[in-house]
Amino acid sequence: MKKILFASSEAVPFIKTGGLADVVGSLPKNFPSGKYDVRVILPKYACMDKRFLKDLTPVTEFYAELGWRKQYAGILKAEADGIQYYFVDNEYYFAGDRPYGEIYQDVEKFAFFSKAVLDALDKIDFFPDIIHCNDWQTGLIPVFLEKIYRKKEKYRNIRTVFSIHNIRFQGRWKMNEVRDVTGLSGEVFTPEGMESYGEANYLKGGIVYADAVTTVSKSYAMEIMTPEGGEGLDGVLRKYAFKLFGIANGLDYDIYNPKKDAYIPFRFHTSDVMKKKPKNKEKLQEKMGLPKHPDAFLIGMVSRMSDQKGFDLVACILEKILSTENVQFAVLGTGEERYENMFRYFAEKYPDKLSANISYSENIAHLIYAGADAFLMPSLFEPCGLTQLIALRYGTVPIVRETGGLKDTVEPYNKFTQEGTGFSFANYDAEELADRIHTARELYDTQKSCWKGIMIRGMKKNFSWKSSVEEYEKLYESVCQIKM
Ligand code: ADP
Ligand code: GLC
Repeated sequence: MKKILFASSEAVPFIKTGGLADVVGSLPKNFPSGKYDVRVILPKYACMDKRFLKDLTPVTEFYAELGWRKQYAGILKAEADGIQYYFVDNEYYFAGDRPYGEIYQDVEKFAFFSKAVLDALDKIDFFPDIIHCNDWQTGLIPVFLEKIYRKKEKYRNIRTVFSIHNIRFQGRWKMNEVRDVTGLSGEVFTPEGMESYGEANYLKGGIVYADAVTTVSKSYAMEIMTPEGGEGLDGVLRKYAFKLFGIANGLDYDIYNPKKDAYIPFRFHTSDVMKKKPKNKEKLQEKMGLPKHPDAFLIGMVSRMSDQKGFDLVACILEKILSTENVQFAVLGTGEERYENMFRYFAEKYPDKLSANISYSENIAHLIYAGADAFLMPSLFEPCGLTQLIALRYGTVPIVRETGGLKDTVEPYNKFTQEGTGFSFANYDAEELADRIHTARELYDTQKSCWKGIMIRGMKKNFSWKSSVEEYEKLYESVCQIKM
């Protein structure tokens, strides 16, 4: 039995700000249970879903050393979906109403978390074959393991896999302060270690010291090795290309399943989607306060409002699209104020055509996936993207930019061969985006059977974890062969 410990800063159902939580909440339970004992360790945030906070069972407590500091760490546990979850408790670090705050606080917070994860292994008596770390918040785990813990017998054979879900976020901070907080020294803070552009960089630490590095799609794995996509770390990634792998995310098929989704009013499958989607669409229009026009081409968006997601392109085209096309927009998201305000402005100017719900809501998100005709995701970059996968599964045709995981998962419609599952454009260019929306809308209006073909092909695609889990299994096997 292989023992794997996932270390992450978020996981469904406990705490979620984005796709990382979906992945850590679903990948572990997809490994064959007879072959793997997969567990997960998370911070115990004060802002975690209250339903779970009260049901955590205390396991142990100790003090973690952070440089000259000794900080209290409690370990609690809970089970969800057959997976054992551990939580690191410290009311000072994990207070507040959000998991992340100012970066200077977060670097200490996640140095503490990384240290506590390694210390906890001894206390919970679970020495995994592999610690699977996720994003910069856990980047110090491979560093601490290599520089401090490896010396202890029980830690000698632990291997690490480090997954990059978004290279934009790196956990960079002043060298002196990171040196002080971590108690690390020497070559760790050189360009061969985690130094990067004069700062200490947790993500780079993960890349350099982990036994294998993965990212969440094959295209993104290539993109981050280029100056355009590497956010300054492309050189390091090219150096370590031999241990870099792109493995696409899957979807939690229990949660995102139009046949049994409890959030949606009319559940459906491929055989009755043409009957049920219009009913869900009507409910969505009602919920969003849009006129119930069955023929309006309803475009949904569910997204963090960040420039990553292509909102600058959307800003360039909205006036033209809203003033000339028979479309409706149902938008759900929160994030940067300038984008939130942009949607507020257009919702006021075109109340019959655009409705923006500036909030976080599972309920409305699922209603958009089920009720919209198309799903817009013109990302500047996209490591994998889960929302287009959900849209595909719900017969909602994605309109995307060909980048990262979007390029790997949405096949452009070909009118000659009647193949493809969505619409896409190559350049980060507003005209191209407007053109693709126009083409999609025209097809929807005039060639219903072709549109239906696109929907059904998308719904039939398999985005479960199965094939990706096989890739992870192979990777785990090879990582365990590495001699220490
Ligand atoms: P990212 O992690 O970059 O934000 P992903 O596509 O990987 O993008 O995952 C986003 C996840 O967050 C999806 O599960 C999506 O449904 C969810 N999500 C994003 N914004 C909202 C929102 N405002 N309300 C509800 N769910 C949201
Ligand atoms: C990140 C990426 C997103 C990806 C998710 C899960 O948040 O932005 O593309 O799907 O992580 O890996």
